[in-house]
Amino acid sequence: MPAAPAHVPDADVLAAFESAKGFMPTDEGLALYSAAVEAGGLGLPLLEVGTYCGRSTVLLADAARRSGVTALTVDHHRGSEEQQPGWDYHDPETVDPEVGLMDTLPAFRRTLHRAGLEEHVVALVGRSPQIARIWGSPLGLVFVDGGHTDEHAGADYAGWAPHLAEGGLLVIHDVFPDPADEFTGQAPYRVYLRALDSGAFTEVSATGSLRVLRRTGAGG
Ligand SMILES: C[S@@+](CC[C@H](N)C(=O)[O-])C[C@H]1O[C@@H](n2cnc3c(N)ncnc32)[C@H](O)[C@@H]1O
Repeated sequence: MPAAPAHVPDADVLAAFESAKGFMPTDEGLALYSAAVEAGGLGLPLLEVGTYCGRSTVLLADAARRSGVTALTVDHHRGSEEQQPGWDYHDPETVDPEVGLMDTLPAFRRTLHRAGLEEHVVALVGRSPQIARIWGSPLGLVFVDGGHTDEHAGADYAGWAPHLAEGGLLVIHDVFPDPADEFTGQAPYRVYLRALDSGAFTEVSATGSLRVLRRTGAGG
């Protein structure tokens, strides 16, 4: 049984999260929020990989607001493999009819606008490894919820973990140790193991498929 979260969002923020399109259940959202408020205490930006329509971003944005920092969210907005037409997680409403491809950027912008949290977020639209390569400043939190293949989840970890400050939190979504429980592959679980095996991270909490690790050493 996970411990009760130390920090909880106000009812209007929770309602904005719960009404946004996306995949994160409320218990995991509350764990993410609590980690983000704690990490915000470092006075550094909070970064998310995998914006989609902004469901989890609402929580990071409000945590950033409370801490006086900025939330950064990275996505090319063309969807992951399992969100493409014909796959289980496809939502036809996310397709731009003019170009015939997914485009979740408009829905994301509507979500943040409705939540009244636009000014606390910088959206980085592009491929995660490309942005990570040119990123040059420390982060208080890295939340990995982008592509769920080994290629993408591994690149997200390799690209962003080096920017995580000492004491900062690495949060990984969709960690399923038992292959029978997973729907989109076990790549996030392998990233979680890689982080722990590196010796640079210590586990803080587990809520559903959400894992929170703290950087307690260099490398990783
Ligand atoms: C599982 S969804 C994110 C869900 C979101 N965090 C939420 O709570 O609703 C994954 C997102 O990652 C994005 N994505 C996948 N691979 C990516 C990459 N290499 N670079 C940037 N974004 C990527 C997809 O476009 C998709 O919107």
